[in-house]
Amino acid sequence: MIIQPQIQGCVARNCHPIGCRAAVQQQIAAVRAAGAFNAPCRVLVIGASSGFGLASRIALTFGAGADTIGISLERGPSEKGVGSAGWYNNIWFREAAEQEGRLGLNLIGDAFSDTMRQQAIAAIREHLGQVDLVVYSLASGLRILADGTQVRSTLKTTGEPFTGLGYDIEHDALVEQSLAPASEQEIRDTVSVMGGDDWQLWMQALAEADCLARGAQTVAYSYIGPESTYPLYRDGTIGYAKEHLHATAEAINLQLAGIGGHAWVSVCKALVTKASAFIPVLPVYLAVLMQVMKVEGSHEGCIEQMRRLFAEKMFGAQGVVADGQRLIRMDDRELAPAVQAAVDTLWRQVTPENFHTLGDFAGLRADFFALNGFGLEGVDYGAAVEVAELAALRP
Ligand code: NAI
Repeated sequence: MIIQPQIQGCVARNCHPIGCRAAVQQQIAAVRAAGAFNAPCRVLVIGASSGFGLASRIALTFGAGADTIGISLERGPSEKGVGSAGWYNNIWFREAAEQEGRLGLNLIGDAFSDTMRQQAIAAIREHLGQVDLVVYSLASGLRILADGTQVRSTLKTTGEPFTGLGYDIEHDALVEQSLAPASEQEIRDTVSVMGGDDWQLWMQALAEADCLARGAQTVAYSYIGPESTYPLYRDGTIGYAKEHLHATAEAINLQLAGIGGHAWVSVCKALVTKASAFIPVLPVYLAVLMQVMKVEGSHEGCIEQMRRLFAEKMFGAQGVVADGQRLIRMDDRELAPAVQAAVDTLWRQVTPENFHTLGDFAGLRADFFALNGFGLEGVDYGAAVEVAELAALRP
């Protein structure tokens, strides 16, 4: 079967399994080239199959020799299609980790469920004894509560409606997009899905099962962004969820005091991932930001960002480097005043006619396609992919 990309709006409907292998290998090569660093060696990654979670896992395994257990919700091949990129990322990551003599165990299922927590506890006991680090990197539109209630997150603003130009990846065009103000219920629901509640349940369950090593740390990922994006993010439903995540870090931090552990939030840079491509209007900011930061020489992809987080801001010579609110600021380069001034100027000039010449939409597209295994160097996209053979591979 020859696989061509199928994109609908800002969502990829398929992936190229062999291209996904090249993408994982590219990240491994980037970590190796950047050199080894010291970091905890027994790690649980919740949301491990793509974006920041996958990059965290690759950085820790190939930069610091970590053994990892990764949790994700992904689809394998079936009569409905080839499966999701994350499914293959899990397979290729595990194979590469094992070749390196490291554990790269994948647990596939709903991370919000108690069943998955129990599965992870059993796997930690069997393979690692305890963990030194828990990375919480879920991005989801749905959380199913213990009583079966389905709670959905929304991407809306609060206060006044917000309208701006968004990017339609499928048609490579700028289109007007609007974010309606959320109701109180929608805010509460988004906080339930993307806030800190589930992170805290995980940390409680792991502590009760004696799966946290002395001094264990946990980190969850957040975004704040510049003022120009506040209506889209910080003052939107997702921003409320992130505020809740930040507050939860304090609660977990207290709970970990007994074992000398700590909970952190890393405020990251905006980057192209499956989750961020879906946020209305934000990809236009992203393309302009990429343009500015590439010219300035400070651009980082997911893997560079996560390696820097662990090697320099969490486990470097100075220990954890956080601001006054105990936030680890990986968005330091994005929020540099000169970068934001240049972004503001460019963003104001962007129109549906000139956007290709102003923002790095080509770079954004390339990153988006690469997330799904397309457009990678060295992959023969004209060659048939043997899906039946791939179906025999287990994550
Ligand atoms: P992503 O969509 O690439 O990854 C999400 C991960 O969560 C995947 O591994 C997926 O399988 C897993 N997942 C989703 N629902 C699940 C479920 N019910 N059970 C088990 N696994 C599930 O997203 P991305 O962008 O890497 O996001 C991770 C975190 O980083 C999020 O909290 C996001 O808000 C945050 N972040 C992202 C930024 C960006 O620019 N992409 C910037 C700053 C923070």
